[in-house]
Amino acid sequence: MNKSPIIGICTFYSKNSSSPDARYVSFLRHSARLPGQVYIFSPRDIDWAAKTIKGFVLVNRHLIKKSMPFPQAVYNKLENRHQEAMPLVRQMWKKFNSIGIKIFNPKFFNKIEIHRVLSANNALSPYIPETMVDFSLASLDRMLHKHSGVFIKPGSGSLGQGVVKICQTPKGYRYQYRLSNKNVTATINKLSALLRRIDGRIGKRPIIQQAIDLATYQGRVFDLRILMQKNGQGRWVRTYSFGKAAAPGSIASNVAAGGRVVHYHTILSATFPDVEKRKRVEEQITRICSLIPSALDKHFSNLGELGIDLGIDTAGRVWLIEVNSKYSRHVFPRQVRVNSIVNSLSYAQFLAKGQSQ
Ligand SMILES: Nc1ncnc2c1ncn2[C@@H]1O[C@H](COP(=O)(O)OP(=O)(O)O)[C@@H](O)[C@H]1O
Ligand SMILES: [Mg+2]
Repeated sequence: MNKSPIIGICTFYSKNSSSPDARYVSFLRHSARLPGQVYIFSPRDIDWAAKTIKGFVLVNRHLIKKSMPFPQAVYNKLENRHQEAMPLVRQMWKKFNSIGIKIFNPKFFNKIEIHRVLSANNALSPYIPETMVDFSLASLDRMLHKHSGVFIKPGSGSLGQGVVKICQTPKGYRYQYRLSNKNVTATINKLSALLRRIDGRIGKRPIIQQAIDLATYQGRVFDLRILMQKNGQGRWVRTYSFGKAAAPGSIASNVAAGGRVVHYHTILSATFPDVEKRKRVEEQITRICSLIPSALDKHFSNLGELGIDLGIDTAGRVWLIEVNSKYSRHVFPRQVRVNSIVNSLSYAQFLAKGQSQ
């Protein structure tokens, strides 16, 4: 077992850049309290023949670029699906895998794949809104006969982009979405005409999902983000929870779509003032968050962190909205951010030492 693990943080920056993004430099600073070495590298700076990588390290609190040995574990911090799909990146993961380098955080999740994995789990399926992954006019029509409203969401989207809500009203079908900080809504008689109208809005490989009648906070729909992380022993722990309240009238709570972060206990006590009811809500949250990581572990290797988004309906029933493999820490209070970084790096070390879980 290697006592002094080397961890690489993989992200892109331009060739002549004198520093990677400040977020990752702060990872280096917080790594100072852990044993071993952490460095940041770009997939462009790998010398496969020499088995070295030109990466950024902190020496006496100064950032310098130097040639480093291959790491034993890599923390994948690629920022979008476009980077992930680059041939350079795919080959890099393949080669790293073939020489036994562990990749922590394998990839961005796809809603279709996650839905398939989780809905096959009997304990979890009651918490998952009905979802159809084969998008068509007929399936949309079928879903609207069963539910008063549905969401259309891109299979591999994020930030609330390409998310459209459709409801049946006495006047016809109403659609709603968020565009450049504005709520767009209109009502149309025929579903086929509506689909043509929103064609440019909905992203690739859309799914159709039963709309949950979400509870509101100060008149805004909200969901909860629960952060689950593996720690230095490779065990899942719940490290942070907060609420995201949508902008007024918006259908999506994403911070990138105008949503705002609200303290977890503030949002729960305001919405469910009855202690017993709130307790039942929290019990469901705890249960879902204990089931999801292990269900996903069976399908993906070396998962180390998850942002689980849960919706609570007006009756106090908890539903799974989305599971994210990547999430932004910028909304976290400082100490939570530091702890979550140390946790991630500790799990990367756990992997680097040749353990896996
Ligand atoms: N089935 C649903 N019922 C109610 N609201 C939903 C539903 N699905 C999504 N939303 C709202 O839309 C937001 C964005 O949807 P999400 O599935 O998280 O996609 P994205 O990848 O864009 O974040 C959610 O945070 C939630 O506020
Ligand atoms: Mg989301």
